[in-house]
This record gives sequence, structure tokens and C-alpha cells, in this order.
Amino acid sequence: MQHRSIFNSMLTAKNKVYLKLIPICCVLTACFAMLFGCADPSTPKQSEQTDTTATQKIKIGLSIESLRVERWPKDRDIFIAEAEKLGAEVIVQSADGDERRQNEQAENMITQGVDVLVVIPKDSVAAAQIVQAAHADGIKVIAYDRLIRESEPDLYISFDNEKVGYLQAEYLYRQKPKGNYFLLGGAPTDNNARLLRQGQMRALQPAIDSGDIRLVAEGKHWAVNWDARDALNKAEQVLTQTNNMVDAVVASNDGTAGGVIQALEGQNLAGKVLVSGQDAELAACQRIVKGTQTMTVYKPIHLIATKAAQAAVALAKDEKITEATQTVNNGKIDVPSILLTPIQVDKDNLEEVVIKDGFHTREAVYQE
Ligand code: BGC
Repeated sequence: MQHRSIFNSMLTAKNKVYLKLIPICCVLTACFAMLFGCADPSTPKQSEQTDTTATQKIKIGLSIESLRVERWPKDRDIFIAEAEKLGAEVIVQSADGDERRQNEQAENMITQGVDVLVVIPKDSVAAAQIVQAAHADGIKVIAYDRLIRESEPDLYISFDNEKVGYLQAEYLYRQKPKGNYFLLGGAPTDNNARLLRQGQMRALQPAIDSGDIRLVAEGKHWAVNWDARDALNKAEQVLTQTNNMVDAVVASNDGTAGGVIQALEGQNLAGKVLVSGQDAELAACQRIVKGTQTMTVYKPIHLIATKAAQAAVALAKDEKITEATQTVNNGKIDVPSILLTPIQVDKDNLEEVVIKDGFHTREAVYQE
């Protein structure tokens, strides 16, 4: 018995030693596993897999000049939906028409660690700073709809804006090959406004040279900030100066066309003077049906927004944008570009083009 009890107590002592060894073994095993795990990255643990995916989620910064014009919230929403579909996350900032604020917001998004910045610049020149700041942090930049000048953006995606301007003026010219024309441009800070003007002049120059078309109101040519109220004021001034002798107004977008048409209404001239536009805004489509606006230019927003989101994700992955087959010079470099095709719209093809594309409902346009 004595022998047995000594044996039992020896066993207990041994067990005690084993018990003390267990935690040490565990720690050693864990260290070994960790070392082994590091040496073989092909077999990460489940928790590591989740972490890697989380840190790899692409973050896109979308900097919008302002959301005041009808199209921009659509651009934003379609862009976000496509980016999220591709597994990316989008941070959106709107600068409410203030270029300094836009630059600050962009800086902020850079600090937040976005992988790509997509910029709709308020001021095509001031936004060059955004490109420089982003590039300093290795972040790629897409100029969305509006070119960023004097810098090196990685991609420019837009519609062919020179063509938009051409389509506006060409349409009015076909309706009225002789007469007094008032060209009302968009915001002078927006590179698109210049391109539109170039296209408008391409359509009208031969008739101006031959004297068939006379441009009225030198110096009243640009609507500050694309503002409809400024367009209204300028149109009123021009009507006063010319004693209402205006046959056509080449307005550069639908918002400013709205201002012009309000001024014409004040003189009982709405529907008698031709007015162009751009964007196929709902109010513009309704005016086309009513006959107070002559035409607009439709630019499928779903195309530009989805392509831009796809390009942003591709750039974040350092992939090449194969669709950027063109270049546009921005004063510094030839920027790789995707330029989509705009479509002339009047009352005859409104349904076929704008409504069929799902841009507006038939009920909304025809107010049925
Ligand atoms: C866009 C137009 C828009 C205008 C005012 C331009 O840069 O191309 O579609 O109407 O800005 O926001």
C-alpha cells in the first residue's frame, strides 16, 4: 500500500509538470504556426483572408462641382451603383460651385486614402492642383465630363463637346439660314463652354462670312456658372439692345435655355425665336413639346457614368483603359480620352431617343 501511495504521489507530481508544460507547448505551437503562415502566404488563415479583402476594397473619391444642374445627381447615382457593383466604395463630395472648396474637398479625400479621384471640375484650370496633389500621393485622376487643363490627368471621359456645340448651332441654322443670332455660352471657367463655342462657330462661320448670319450683342456671350438667372438677365439686355431683333439664340445647355425662354416670354417671343439646349432636362423636353424650345442635345448619362466607374476601378488596379483610343490636348499633355457621341433631339425624335432610353417617362414629358 505504502509503495502504491508513493507511486500515486509520483504520478501526481508528473501530471503537475505536464500541466505546467501545456501552456508553453501551446505558445510554441502558435509561434510555429505563425512563422509557418508567414513563410507560406498561399495558405492564409480565415481571419487573415477577411482582413486582406477588407483592406483591398477599392476606394473612389467623386468630387462634383455642384449638384444644381439636373443631370449631376443622375451622374452621381449611376456612378455609385456601378462602382459598388464592381466591389468598390465611393466617397462623394459636392463643392456647391466653389472651386476653392472643391480643391479642399479633394485634398481631404486624398488624406482619406482614396485609390482614384474622379473630378467634375468647377474650374478647369484651378483643378490642376487636384491632379498634382493626387499624383504626389500616387493617386490616379479621371476628369469626368469636363477636362482638367494644364496638368496630367490619367483619363478624360466625356461626350464630344465640340460636336454638341456643332449640333446645337447646325440645327438652328437649318431652320433659319439667315438672321440675327445670339450665342450664349456656358460658364467661362468650364472647358466645355469653350469647346461648345468652337463647334457652334464651325457650324455658323460660313454663313457669318457670307453675311447671312449676323452675331448680335458682342460681350454678352457667357452665362456665369451656367446660371439660368444670369442667362435670363443677359437675354433681356440683348432683346432691349437689339429692339427684339433676334432670330435665334444658341443657348449652350437647357438650364440657360430656360432663362432665355423666360426672357422671350416677357416679350411675347417664346416659340418665335429659335433656342437650342443640351442635356434633355425634363423641363426642356416639355418645352420642346410645347414649342418654346427648338431642340436639345441628348447625352446618355448611364453611358458616361458606368464607363467612368469601370475605368476608375481599372485604374485603381493599375489596368490599362483600352477604350481610351483618343487623346485631347489640355495645354500640357495629350490626355487619353473616351469621347461619347451626343444626339440631336427635337420634337420628332424625342420619344424615340430620350423616352425609349428610359431617361424620362412619356407621362412626365407629355404631362399626360
Ligand atoms: C456639361 C453640361 C451641363 C453644364 C452645366 C457642362 O460641363 O457638359 O451637360 O449642362 O456643364 O452643369
